[in-house]
Amino acid sequence: MCEIEKSGYPHYMLKEIYEQPEVIKRTLKERLIPGSEGIVLDGIGLTQRELDGVHRMVIVACGTSYHAGLAGKYLIESLAGIPVEVEIASEFRYRSPAVDKNSLVIVISQSGETADTLDALRTAKGKGARVLAITNVVGSTIPREADYSIYTCAGPEVSVASTKAYTSQLIVIYLIALQLAYIKGGIGREVYRQMLEAVNRLPEQAQKMLDCSQSMKELAGKHKDIEKIVYLGRGLDYALALEGSLKFKETCYIHSAAYPGGEFRHGPIALVEEGLLVVLLATQDALIDKTLANLKEVKDRGAYVVALAKEGDGEVGKLADRVVYIPDIFDEFTSALAVIPLQLFAYYSAVARGRNVDRPRSLVKSVTD
Ligand code: M6R
Repeated sequence: MCEIEKSGYPHYMLKEIYEQPEVIKRTLKERLIPGSEGIVLDGIGLTQRELDGVHRMVIVACGTSYHAGLAGKYLIESLAGIPVEVEIASEFRYRSPAVDKNSLVIVISQSGETADTLDALRTAKGKGARVLAITNVVGSTIPREADYSIYTCAGPEVSVASTKAYTSQLIVIYLIALQLAYIKGGIGREVYRQMLEAVNRLPEQAQKMLDCSQSMKELAGKHKDIEKIVYLGRGLDYALALEGSLKFKETCYIHSAAYPGGEFRHGPIALVEEGLLVVLLATQDALIDKTLANLKEVKDRGAYVVALAKEGDGEVGKLADRVVYIPDIFDEFTSALAVIPLQLFAYYSAVARGRNVDRPRSLVKSVTD
């Protein structure tokens, strides 16, 4: 891998984190054509009528793509009212999942070659389900075998730790959820318009989020000797907590766990001791009181809390040891912005520990067997 390909960045991971505003813009450009009525999803081969006929969905993926799928469940269920299950592909493929011709199965894969996801696709098709693939690599096996396909336009992702592929998967999921919600009457025309406008602002907001790079570097340096870390969140913030945690463990080789805030008191809170680093995601206005309760309970037990909150937040910033703000946007779309500080923190933590950032030990870019 020559230096030129890294465009002056020390690692592909950092380069790819910085590419995200452009990647979001590109992925949106393909689907939001100025002057056209709403979102253009026809290219995937699913007609409006077929979308309208979708009454149950199953999302199947691995790793980071699975985390994007979890976000999809929260969004599609809350906006469109369609039941969505999300399953890890290596579980789905080795059981007898209850899918049939009335199910729409969405498989998500950056590479389009992950063996478990490919086999899950074949399992679903074998049972008569229709399969929509969300992939990044054009011409890869998964979109070739799927009934319908949509590409994420992230460009080549070299770093084993996925960053820009995840945000572009989220963008596609946002658009699918919005379109389904509109078709199904889950949201009216005006909310649909406002939400589309909000999605269109994401590239510029993602660019602004990159300004936290230096403070994430300092934070990573300050905590470079920690031996464990906990990520907490509720709702969409839980899906994002899983992704932040995965990024940290795979790049730093440090034990990291993510919990839904409400589940914390059912066991994991026993882990909290003086100085434990807790990353608390507090971007969901609808859940803010509950999230604040989590913040207080970990602070009371001596944790050092780094929180992510929306600009204009009143309480989180007062209670947390450190807070990173994201713009005040719809709860539904916060993950595409809040993931950026999490990625940067994992990246700088790995650098501070002298890890092989782009090729962490024991990992490959695409798990094909
Ligand atoms: O290419 P895929 O999206 O199918 O890959 C899935 C996972 O192997 C991948 O996301 C993996 O978890 C990454 N190392 C995460 O950073």
